[in-house]
Amino acid sequence: MKITFIGAGNMAEAIFAGIIKQQVVAASDVCVTDISEERLADLSEKYGVGTSLDNPSAVAEADVIVLAVKPQIFPMVWPEIAHAINPNALVVSVMAGIPSETIAGGKPIRIVRVMPNTPALIGRGAAGIAAGELATEADLHLAEKLMNAVGLAVRVEEEELHAVTAVSGSGPAYVFYLLENMLAAADQMGLEKGVARELALATVMGAAELMKESGEEADALRKKVTSKGGTTAAAINTMIDRGVGESIISAMQACAARSKELADG
Ligand SMILES: NC(=O)c1ccc[n+]([C@@H]2O[C@H](COP(=O)([O-])OP(=O)(O)OC[C@H]3O[C@@H](n4cnc5c(N)ncnc54)[C@H](OP(=O)(O)O)[C@@H]3O)[C@@H](O)[C@H]2O)c1
Repeated sequence: MKITFIGAGNMAEAIFAGIIKQQVVAASDVCVTDISEERLADLSEKYGVGTSLDNPSAVAEADVIVLAVKPQIFPMVWPEIAHAINPNALVVSVMAGIPSETIAGGKPIRIVRVMPNTPALIGRGAAGIAAGELATEADLHLAEKLMNAVGLAVRVEEEELHAVTAVSGSGPAYVFYLLENMLAAADQMGLEKGVARELALATVMGAAELMKESGEEADALRKKVTSKGGTTAAAINTMIDRGVGESIISAMQACAARSKELADG
């Protein structure tokens, strides 16, 4: 299987580094394109992948084409490669917001859309995968295999990718925002920065692992550590009074709405 990545940014690098490491494909079967010659030289040296500055020739021989440019670059890149794609090739788009129907543009192209997130950079990503109109079970399986090399991959319907964006695509930013504010509060309380960082990170990771391993619901676990009149109750009651829960729900609704807006152009 020959696979070409159009756009050699962070997300492309995370995915091809993962699939090479997991031996899903050999580095010699991966081709990466970009507009920066310097970036391509670095990637070639680091991973042993093939590189090209010429998008149309890079897609011509590929069995799988991963579209990993920013969505706003897509209208410039697609016209130059759409005609050069092998008719049997699968197109995997990691671009946020652009519907498979827009990518296909009326042509019989098999497309799978993927909504990844940045922890893919360390092999701990969470991705939603959705089939475009003509994609087959084998195509979905292949996309799953690619994304499993950098974390969790879950199948959803294409319309659900807006919700996936709100949960996991943008999700890391919510956790960073939580950590940012936990650390600001710790600083105000005089806790040494390094100590606070270690404690806060272990807390977020430990809480997530506890929820996963116990199989219990978030509210049940929260209630278990919240004794009436205690310290955790003081914190949670403040959050409830300030509407933090409602804010999170509104924020995620805004994220999904923005995703729909971008999809509608
Ligand atoms: N990062 C995330 O958390 C995340 C999450 C979900 C989905 N995504 C999606 O993943 C895609 C890539 O994101 P990213 O963060 O990896 O972006 P990125 O780092 O900007 O990567 C895009 C790369 O494509 C290059 N490029 C620009 N024009 C090109 C052209 N004509 N031909 C070939 N390459 C070209 C860019 O070069 P220059 O930098 O020189 O312009 C850049 O190296 C986006 O569509 C985004 O929606 C990202």
